[in-house]
Amino acid sequence: MTETTGATGEGTRAVRAGLPEPVKNEPTLPGPVFAAHFHLPGDVEGPYTYGRDENPTWTLLERAVGELEAPGRDDVETLVFASGMAAISSVLFSQLRAGDTVVMPDDGYQALPLVHEQLRAYGIQVRTAPTGGDAQLAVLEGARLLWIETPSNPGLDVCDIRRLVDAAHARGALVAVDNTLATPLGQRPLELGADFSVASGTKQLTGHGDVLLGYVSGRDAEAMTAVRRWRKLVGAIPGPMEAWLAHRSIATLHLRVERQSANALAVAEALRDWPEELGVRYPGLPGDPSYKIASQQMRRFGCVVSFTLPTRARAERFLDALRLVDDATSFGGVRSTAERRGRWGGDAVPDGFIRFSAGAEDTEDLVADVRRALRESTG
Ligand SMILES: Cc1ncc(COP(=O)(O)O)c(C=O)c1O
Repeated sequence: MTETTGATGEGTRAVRAGLPEPVKNEPTLPGPVFAAHFHLPGDVEGPYTYGRDENPTWTLLERAVGELEAPGRDDVETLVFASGMAAISSVLFSQLRAGDTVVMPDDGYQALPLVHEQLRAYGIQVRTAPTGGDAQLAVLEGARLLWIETPSNPGLDVCDIRRLVDAAHARGALVAVDNTLATPLGQRPLELGADFSVASGTKQLTGHGDVLLGYVSGRDAEAMTAVRRWRKLVGAIPGPMEAWLAHRSIATLHLRVERQSANALAVAEALRDWPEELGVRYPGLPGDPSYKIASQQMRRFGCVVSFTLPTRARAERFLDALRLVDDATSFGGVRSTAERRGRWGGDAVPDGFIRFSAGAEDTEDLVADVRRALRESTG
């Protein structure tokens, strides 16, 4: 039981998430515990024995994430990992066996094709379908696990989580949702029936571009035991310092998400209203193909906006001309970033496609910077 019990507003919940009961003369959020081993006389008993299995700093962070992903529920377990990919791999490789079938998106995070390759090498059948239009529904028959990424990165398509979960469960399949882009303040997949909510905490959850982290929240105790076992086997654990930094950052998650969502919407509107047709995508923009379903299942629409400039050269000039926006990969940080996504070669996007991550700058400054860079790059 943590001190947050009884806190109902999302901002209140975020600032107190995972805090221990107050102890006189102790800090509010205890510092990172650096320990490879713990004193362990006699029998091997928990909670803390060896540093690859458990750490008190992870415990507090796991409580914090759990309180955001599944407020008020004590049947949900959260485990933290060294990165989002470690978290994703822990679910896929702990739940699937040779001969199983998994349904994955074909427009998700660019490292997923590597995962598909590895799953196939282990004798697991991988079927893919796009996120938009709930197209994964059509290839569900016989699957053991359905993997959803909504909104998808970088295309920002959205699928109906509840509808896909119902269809998957009716066929006996588990469902995992990559909740990286939305964050738990944007959507709560477990409340929509998913078995796992999985995310990269490297992005908006921690939000300062200085930590790699991942987590899995799940409500099936047996499945989570297998995920925990996988973490122990592979050792893909976060350092105590990273875990502590992440917990510290969660205190401002609500503030950051509110500002960054507002900034993303303002940038999306500016791009929509620009005299050139830029194919802007943002799930929170009325009229966007994702808007209807996003409005049903999301409480905030995220900080990522995508759009397409006519050529690679124009996109590069645009990125060069931005002053408040760093040309960098990743997303979700308090400082805006943007990149020409095609430079990585992994996504099926045009040469001029830009993924833009709105930071926490003043809205009018950010929009003015984008407009100026659009103008200056026209040349
Ligand atoms: C949607 C999504 N899932 C997972 C990941 C992987 O996270 P990490 O880089 O923390 O391993 C990313 C990284 O960009 C991502 O965008």
